[in-house]
Formats: sequence, structure tokens, C-alpha cells
Amino acid sequence: MKRMPDRVALVTGAAGGLGSAIALRLASEGASLCLVDRAATDAIKSQVEALGAQAIGFTVDVTDSAAVGAAVAQSMARFKRIDILVNVAGISSHGASDDVTEEVWNRVLACNLSSVFYCCKAVLPIMRAQKYGRIVNISSVLGKNGGNPRPWIDEEEQKKAGSLAYAAAKAGIHAVTSYLAKENAHRGITVNAVAPGPIATQMTRNFPQTLKNLIPVGRMGTPEDVADAVAFIAGDSASFITGEVLDVNGGMWCD
Ligand SMILES: NC(=O)c1ccc[n+]([C@@H]2O[C@H](COP(=O)([O-])OP(=O)(O)OC[C@H]3O[C@@H](n4cnc5c(N)ncnc54)[C@H](O)[C@@H]3O)[C@@H](O)[C@H]2O)c1
Repeated sequence: MKRMPDRVALVTGAAGGLGSAIALRLASEGASLCLVDRAATDAIKSQVEALGAQAIGFTVDVTDSAAVGAAVAQSMARFKRIDILVNVAGISSHGASDDVTEEVWNRVLACNLSSVFYCCKAVLPIMRAQKYGRIVNISSVLGKNGGNPRPWIDEEEQKKAGSLAYAAAKAGIHAVTSYLAKENAHRGITVNAVAPGPIATQMTRNFPQTLKNLIPVGRMGTPEDVADAVAFIAGDSASFITGEVLDVNGGMWCD
């Protein structure tokens, strides 16, 4: 039985590894999809439609709040509601603190944190009017461990996996999630985060083996591991869960 018939989901970063898996998972539950990415969404749109779900694609840079607003308006024109927002779009940055230039800092914060605020701000009035909404923000285990998973004993490893600006942005997502969850709890809207550990996508193609060896479950995660968690927390049955940061990290970080 499909759990999301008549639901409309807007997914950012929908052309990427996690975004496309999440879009397909929600489509398999019967949701219609608004697919947002700065890259082309034609391929994922075709895959969603092949599952029998409706889809509309937008080529949008989510750091541009006006463009986000326009995509939300066009989604409303097509589907008349937005029930689920999944903020997936993001970029990584690596290196020691000395490597983080002002330009990198600003770009990483804009793509990973400001974009989440812009998308939430654009859909919240719609969700309030519907008295229903599910917002899921994809953060990261690095938002919990400071982006510096262990005392550095290997400079090469740090260049590949140290993530100061990224970690700051993802920790910021946790604050935005907590704030919006409390603000909107009485309006039928839940706001949660899913915090993945290392997941095998383009983003982690250079992930060091030394750090893979530290994942207790003994493997990197799959995009479907994250998509399943998103589908759960974005479902009707999760109505009493809000302000949560759901870890999907193979035991890499426990709190
Ligand atoms: N892969 C991992 O191990 C991992 C772990 C934790 C968190 N995450 C987070 O999950 C999300 C997806 O990561 P992924 O592994 O699928 O990476 P990915 O590179 O495969 O996908 C990211 C997508 O976001 C899009 N994007 C980036 N900046 C954008 C912008 N400004 N406007 C619109 N679209 C933009 C890209 O075009 C791409 O399609 C990111 O937020 C990432 O930080 C990933």
C-alpha cells in the first residue's frame, strides 16, 4: 500500500546521489515530485515518471531566494499544495582551517545553510495554510562532530576529510531545524533533520579508506539508507516527531 498518495514533495539537490534516491523513494510511496537542482533534472524526472508518479523539474540555484520562491510558486500552480520539503542540495569543502578562504566559507555556508532557510521560508506559509507539512533537512554527522572526526594523525587524511565550513553549516541546520520545529509544531508541521554518515555518492568519491575503517557497521551507507529514513520521518505516521536529528551513520557517532 502506498503511504503518500496525494502528497506533493519538493526535493532540492534532486539530481544528486541522495536527492535522486529520496525523490524515487517518495515517488514509490505515491507522492508527486517537484525536483529542484542547479544541474539538469531531466534524468531523475524520467525515473520518477517511470514509477507512475507526476513530476516537474526546475533548474534553480538554491542560494538565490528569488529563484527558490519562483520554483515554489510554479510548483503550487501545478500541484496546488506542497506537503513535504526535503532540503538535500549541498556542497562539501575539505582541508585544514588554513585552507578555508573567505570565499570558500561564504560559498559553503550559502549552499548548505542559507539555502535551507530560503526553502523553508518559501514553503512555510503554504504549509501553515494547509495545516500540514513535513520538512526534512539533510545535515551530516559532521554537524555533530565538528567536521574533525578524530585528532589528526595524518595530514593527507585531513586534506581529504577535514570539513570546517561544511561542519559549521550542517550544525547551523540543526539550529534552524530546532527553531522551526518549535515555531510550527501547533500548525500540523513537523521539522526534522536526517544526519547521514559517509554515504557512497559523488561527494565521497575520495573518502579515505582509513576513515571507512572506522565505521562500526563495516561499510559506507547507501543513498537508499538515507531515503528510507527520510520517507519514515516525512510520513503521516511521524506526526509526534519534530525537532529530531535522526542519525543514519552506521554507528560512527552516537549521542
Ligand atoms: N554523501 C555523503 O556522504 C553525505 C553525508 C552527509 C550529508 N550529505 C549531504 O547530503 C546532501 C546530498 O549529498 P550527495 O552525496 O547526494 O551529493 P551530490 O553531489 O551527489 O548531490 C548534491 C546535489 O546538490 C546540488 N546542488 C549543490 N549546490 C546547489 C545549489 N546551490 N543549488 C541547487 N542545487 C545544488 C548538486 O547539483 C547535486 O545534484 C548534501 O547536502 C550533503 O552535504 C552527504
